[in-house]
Amino acid sequence: MQTKENDVLILAIESSCDETAAAVVKNGREVLSNIISSQIDLHTLYGGVVPELASRKHIEKINQVISQALSEAGATLSDLTAVGVTYGPGLVGALLVGVAEAKAIAFARNLPLVGVHHIEGHICANFIEHRELEPPFLCLVVSGGHTHLVMMKDYGEFEIIGRTRDDAAGEAFDKVARAIGLGYPGGPKIDRAAREGDPHAIPFTQPHIEGSPYDFSFSGLKSAVLNYLNHAQMTGQKVNPADLAASFQAAVVNALVSRAMLAAEEYQVDRLVLAGGVASNSSLRESMKKACAKRGYRVYYPSPVFCTDNAAMIGVAAYYEYQKGVRAGWDLNAVPNLKLGER
Ligand code: KG4
Ligand code: ZN
Repeated sequence: MQTKENDVLILAIESSCDETAAAVVKNGREVLSNIISSQIDLHTLYGGVVPELASRKHIEKINQVISQALSEAGATLSDLTAVGVTYGPGLVGALLVGVAEAKAIAFARNLPLVGVHHIEGHICANFIEHRELEPPFLCLVVSGGHTHLVMMKDYGEFEIIGRTRDDAAGEAFDKVARAIGLGYPGGPKIDRAAREGDPHAIPFTQPHIEGSPYDFSFSGLKSAVLNYLNHAQMTGQKVNPADLAASFQAAVVNALVSRAMLAAEEYQVDRLVLAGGVASNSSLRESMKKACAKRGYRVYYPSPVFCTDNAAMIGVAAYYEYQKGVRAGWDLNAVPNLKLGER
C-alpha cells in the first residue's frame, strides 16, 4: 500500500445491528476496503433481528472481518492512524462487541480512538462517491431505525428539523412486507414487488402532524395496510400484492419527498442528500430526483452498498471527527439511544 507520511488511515468498525463490518479509509474519503458480514440469513428464520443472536454472531465474526479489511487494504495495524467505532445508537449488546474490539486494538497499539454516531456515519457515506459534496446541506436519513430530516451545517454539526413520531420508514417497509408475506428484510422486497404494481390502486393517505410540518408518522399507514388485508380476507376479495406494495411505497415516498421539499424551501438550501438503508429504494430516488430537478436543487445519494450498514461510512465520519480533535477515552461505552450531535 502506498501511503505518505501525513496520510490518515482509519480502521473503522460497525456492529450496531445485524451487520458485522470493518473498513480501512484513507484521508476521509478513499475507501481501501469495506468488508460486511451480513446476518440476514440467521435473522430471516425469525422474521426480524434477534438482538441476543446478533451479539453472538458479531463476536464470532469480528476478528475475521477486521483481518480481511486490513489485508484487502494492504495494511497492517502498524500503518493505522486511528480506530473509529460506532458506539450508538443501536442494539446495546451488538454495539458492545464493536466498542470492546476497537478499544482493545487502540489500547494495544496506542492509537487514538474515535467514537462515531451511526447516523452521522450514514450521512457521511455520501462523501465517498461525491468528492465535491461538502456541508451545509439538507439530509433525509431513512433507515430501519431512524427517519430524520437533518441540516448538516458543518462536519460533525447537525440540526434535526423533523423526525418520525412512531415507526421509522424502514421499519414500516419491513412490517408491511411481513404482512403481505414477502419476508425479511422487507424494503428491497417491496421495492421489487412494487415495480409490477399500480401505485394508485389503493389510496393510502399520510397524516399531517399539526404544528410539526417536517415530522413523519408511519404507524397509521402500516395499520391501514393491515386493515386492508383483514377486510379483503373477511370479504373473500383477492389481494394483488404488487398493487398493495406499490400503493404503500407511494404513500411513504410522497411523505418523505413532500416534507423534504418543504424543509429545503424553508431553510433555503439547494442540495438534498439521502442516507440510510431506505435511500436505496428506487422509487424514492426517482421521486426525489424529479422533485429536485423541478426546483433546480442537486440531489445526492450513495450506491446501495453504502446506503445499508457498512463500516466505510463510519471511517469517513471518524476521519472528520478525528480532524476536529475528537477522541474517546478508555471508558467509551455503548449508548443505545445516542442523540445526533451529542457526545
Ligand atoms: O440503514 P440500515 O441498513 O440499518 C439501520 O441503520 O436501520 O437500513 C435497513 C433498512 C431496513 O428496514 C430495510 O428494509 C431498508 O433499510 N431497505 C429498503 C431498501 N433496501 C433496504 N427499504 C426500501 N427499499 C429498499 N430498496
Ligand atoms: Zn444503519
